[in-house]
Amino acid sequence: MTHNGSRFDGKTALITGGSSGMGLATAHRLIAEGARVVVTGRDKKRLDASVAELGGQAHGIAGDATDLDDLDDLAAAVADRFGHLDLLFANAGIGSFQTIEQVTGELFDQVIGSNLKGA
Ligand SMILES: NC(=O)c1ccc[n+]([C@@H]2O[C@H](COP(=O)([O-])OP(=O)(O)OC[C@H]3O[C@@H](n4cnc5c(N)ncnc54)[C@H](OP(=O)(O)O)[C@@H]3O)[C@@H](O)[C@H]2O)c1
Repeated sequence: MTHNGSRFDGKTALITGGSSGMGLATAHRLIAEGARVVVTGRDKKRLDASVAELGGQAHGIAGDATDLDDLDDLAAAVADRFGHLDLLFANAGIGSFQTIEQVTGELFDQVIGSNLKGA
């Protein structure tokens, strides 16, 4: 795949759930194309490892996308550090494949909380 290496030069991106999977892959790509990228996740150890892997243009801010206080803190930290955002990837989320009999109210709330309220 070809791409323009400076397409996102000077742009600031936020990727929720950027410590693994598609979020981490997107962070790699945006940095390769010139952006600085803020990535989030709940597991700080994994987030720190991902930031180290991504290099100097990556910044990690730990937090839970289902927690509105954490989202306020995240917005304040990004505003304080970067002033504004050019790109947001609301990627944090979970999936759980169960039979209908196995789905509990708690599991439903976790999935909806992550994938809808979080976004
Ligand atoms: N892979 C698929 O086939 C597929 C299909 C449809 C939709 N999706 C959706 O696409 C997104 C990415 O999928 P993926 O497979 O790349 O997922 P993944 O590898 O499991 O990564 C999910 C990322 O989101 C973070 N995360 C999860 N819940 C979070 C929360 N409440 N607050 C903050 N961070 C949270 C995880 O870190 P922590 O666990 O440390 O928080 C991790 O960094 C998800 O929303 C997923 O539901 C995926």
